[in-house]
Amino acid sequence: MRVTPFERSLGGGRASAADDPVRLYYSRKTQEILQKYGPGPRVHFHVGLYPDGPPDTTVPQSTLQRALFDAQELIVDHAARSWGAYEAPPRRLLDIGCGLGGTSLYWAQEHGASVTGLTVAPEHVPIVRHFARRSGVAEHVRPVLADVHDLDETRAYDAAYANESSGYTDRTRLFAVVANALEPGGWFGIQEHFVGACRWREFMDDYYRTRLGRRAEYLAAAEAAGFELVQDEDVTDSVAEFWVQSMAWNTAELDRIRAGDGAAPGAWTPERLEQSTIAHSKFFRLWRDHAVETRLLRFRLGGGR
Ligand SMILES: C[S@@+](CC[C@H](N)C(=O)[O-])C[C@H]1O[C@@H](n2cnc3c(N)ncnc32)[C@H](O)[C@@H]1O
Repeated sequence: MRVTPFERSLGGGRASAADDPVRLYYSRKTQEILQKYGPGPRVHFHVGLYPDGPPDTTVPQSTLQRALFDAQELIVDHAARSWGAYEAPPRRLLDIGCGLGGTSLYWAQEHGASVTGLTVAPEHVPIVRHFARRSGVAEHVRPVLADVHDLDETRAYDAAYANESSGYTDRTRLFAVVANALEPGGWFGIQEHFVGACRWREFMDDYYRTRLGRRAEYLAAAEAAGFELVQDEDVTDSVAEFWVQSMAWNTAELDRIRAGDGAAPGAWTPERLEQSTIAHSKFFRLWRDHAVETRLLRFRLGGGR
């Protein structure tokens, strides 16, 4: 693999800071994500879509887990379809905040894209490589340990995608570096949560180590970088159920641990399951009341830079 100046610049970058709270959060959380949202090869860490209403939660834990995965796959595919990816697939795609690679593998497997995935968690990189190999797309998926704020590539991609990762960024910087990295006319698709200045934003930011923003802030940063908003879909009502399904998995796991009977040890402790369940019960109400909105945004970069 060619080492680009971008990758070499990582030494002094934020991603290498051992005490970076986002990096630490994801390093510690990797095994939990694998257990709850795995087993892979496509593993996602973002909310899912329930367009047909809530599925049954009085089902075995394995069924709940499969339903979480199906809903996550559905929202990724729904976005790709409505953004025209089936008609005009991007040849080179930048997956910002690729996590354990579910979305990177999706774009490579379903649309034949060559994907560069960025993550600030070193633990993610070998896992994404492993899953890409298992899926036969090792040549098309390149996970890179890098902070998107340090991105300095020019006209290297046809599209960029950020699924629940833009909430970790300085939006002005994010849109500026992505504008530089895209070909003129390229698009930038975002799945993200938007929240006003209320005490709930602080709660969510503390929980996920994010700095969630408002829609208007994104639009201003995008416009300043030369982007035009071409699609804006509010999927809040269809994703709220994700939190109920997630709580159902948590309580099933708690039951499994408490039942003992030589239950195989998992990554989740009872304390973490309780903490997650209480947080997700609040999230459900925030989504139901639209205090937080999840949106699918697509921006197109103008040609006249
Ligand atoms: C909620 S996870 C989403 C993962 C993936 N997009 C998915 O949908 O499954 C957020 C991801 O953003 C990454 N991330 C956070 N801040 C970042 C930054 N400044 N640069 C690059 N990646 C970042 C984290 O490493 C993590 O993988």
